[in-house]
Amino acid sequence: MSISRNNMPIGFFDSGVGGLTVLKEVKKLMPNENFIYFGDTLHVPYGEKTKEQLLDYSKDILNFFHEKKCKAVVMACNTTSSTIYEDIKDKYYFKIYPIVQTVAKVLAKTSLQRLGIFATPATINSGAYQNEIAKYNSNMKVYGQHCPDWVKIVENNTSQNAESIEIIKNDLNIMLRNNPQKIVLGCTHYPFLLPVLTKFAPKELFIDPAANFAHAINTDLTMSALINDNNSEHTEEFYVSSDPEKFKNSAKMFYEINSEVKEICFN
Ligand code: DGL
Repeated sequence: MSISRNNMPIGFFDSGVGGLTVLKEVKKLMPNENFIYFGDTLHVPYGEKTKEQLLDYSKDILNFFHEKKCKAVVMACNTTSSTIYEDIKDKYYFKIYPIVQTVAKVLAKTSLQRLGIFATPATINSGAYQNEIAKYNSNMKVYGQHCPDWVKIVENNTSQNAESIEIIKNDLNIMLRNNPQKIVLGCTHYPFLLPVLTKFAPKELFIDPAANFAHAINTDLTMSALINDNNSEHTEEFYVSSDPEKFKNSAKMFYEINSEVKEICFN
């Protein structure tokens, strides 16, 4: 097989299983690519970390993707996109795709007037969704709400427990008081909770931005002539910074992982 830039893998990262919601959509559009996924399970939840901590973790992860010779990296994490993307975007030879900035542009072009955003505390506190949408559309009213327990519920695979269902329902009820036309699941972990959310509100109310994000990535890689359309040996590699078995188990309801999940430590 010839080694060209097109054959190089695409890296994905998140604090845990959440980014798999993005990988799944990217894989549908680009089935011939080689993927490397990193879940920083040692440091989850990212939504409670400081900007300095997130910069520190991302530096190690991006260096890892550099060693793996990735042609592009997908920041499948709203929290790092909101807080540190601007600081690191030009520091690597590969393109880095941030979910918030990419998706906000698409949302801003809709005719929605009242938009809810569920996201982590760090994403909401950064104001990134509001600011990015306002760049293109100053008429849209954006209601941000953080859901501090949701990431843990997904990582621990406890979304069907009565206590978790109660937490999710209460958070949803708070958001519904704003009467949003749509609610964006602005954390890549949250689509795992759709089976619970849709017990209390119609499915059409929620936007999982992964498909729009995947579409934008596909368009950009195509325009950059970086698509791998001649690869009969598509590969997927999965890495975590702690507890591979737990990762594999929590991933199950969203993504079938057929290879070994490897644990790596950067220090
Ligand atoms: N899934 C990530 C996001 O989209 C991070 C969640 C977390 O670890 O708090 O924000």
